[in-house]
Amino acid sequence: MYRLNENYLKLPGSYLFSGIAKKVAEFKEANPDRKVISLGIGDVTLPLVPAIISALHEAVDEMASPGTFKGYAPDLGYAFLRETIAAEDYRSRGCNISPDEIFISDGAKCDCANIQEIFSQDTRIAVCDPVYPVYVDSNVMAGRTGNYDPAAGTWSRVIYMPCTAENGFSPDFPDEDPGLIYLCFPNNPTGTTLTKDQLQDWVDYAIRIGAVIIYDAAYEAYISRDQVAHSIYECKGAESCAIEIRSFSKNAGFTGTRLGFTVVPKAIRCGEVSLHSLWARRHGTKYNGAPYIIQKAGAACYSREGKAQLKEQVALYMENARVIRQGLADCGYEVYGGIDAPYIWMKIPAGMTSWDFFDRLLTSAAVVGTPGSGFGPSGEGYFRLTAFGNKDDTKIAIDRIRLL
Ligand code: MLT
Repeated sequence: MYRLNENYLKLPGSYLFSGIAKKVAEFKEANPDRKVISLGIGDVTLPLVPAIISALHEAVDEMASPGTFKGYAPDLGYAFLRETIAAEDYRSRGCNISPDEIFISDGAKCDCANIQEIFSQDTRIAVCDPVYPVYVDSNVMAGRTGNYDPAAGTWSRVIYMPCTAENGFSPDFPDEDPGLIYLCFPNNPTGTTLTKDQLQDWVDYAIRIGAVIIYDAAYEAYISRDQVAHSIYECKGAESCAIEIRSFSKNAGFTGTRLGFTVVPKAIRCGEVSLHSLWARRHGTKYNGAPYIIQKAGAACYSREGKAQLKEQVALYMENARVIRQGLADCGYEVYGGIDAPYIWMKIPAGMTSWDFFDRLLTSAAVVGTPGSGFGPSGEGYFRLTAFGNKDDTKIAIDRIRLL
């Protein structure tokens, strides 16, 4: 006899992007002659750059030879990658992060979903609204979010921090003190950012109330302005209160290849216990390690050629962002984001829901985007387009939107 984890049964509908994929598949089946352009899920379209491809080839050859073959990866990940990350992503920006505080993983999404496991079930979480659905969904599965109100689209024990045009997409500190605060900047879905000073205020707040910030920095490669921090550890005191999650998906095209990492500084302590020791314990037991081949490919992102090639790739996506922003603004839409991030967040015409707009865009223009309300109640009235599409398709999509 067994029973189900009833928390899973509380989840309404399907995962946002799975639901959209189903709708798009149905549309394609009914309209086989229409060329559908996806500016929906933030999936990259450019191939892996040459520096990464040659690292993959070399690593495959190493696996073919008895002297260089590798079995299980070390628990935290290979030292060559952790040392490179510590030097290139952190020390170069004045952040005091050591290689053994970096945990290599098979992608940021899993880490974003799993990190909540090391916190007690009664920990209150605070999220920006709108928000990347994984943070809330994973806490629902863990039984931490209370009951769902379908009319409001909210969970009774989740603290929502609205981020709208009215507050410049910069969340206010919540009225109730959370234990865990999820922040993502540059933001998914709004494509907006906080300044380093604003982020410092969040770090100071977390220290004051004894909370931990889970900082999702998956989109840091898209930052173009100096006033925006690439890492939360650029803020004073963040090593004592912030866990940072990073990805190779959006900056290096690893959405299918899978690689990411999480930084858990040893200084974050709950009484006598360091969070690092708990995450290390979990990693040892529940995680198989990103394959050697993939970790080698990750290290190639930091080589001179790798960095130059990836910079070019990010610039191509940001040119798409410019085309989308400009095209929508020309049509009279209010647009946000897309300057330090690969997401453009647009205000939709009054009187429509964001799902109405999704349907209209799909059926009239054969363009897929993401309805703002899919990311939370404050996302209603907005719509997200990504800059990760192919260049020509992005231009065609904008031309089609102009004709709506
Ligand atoms: C998104 O579109 O929000 C992201 O691509 C989803 C993800 O990274 O899992």
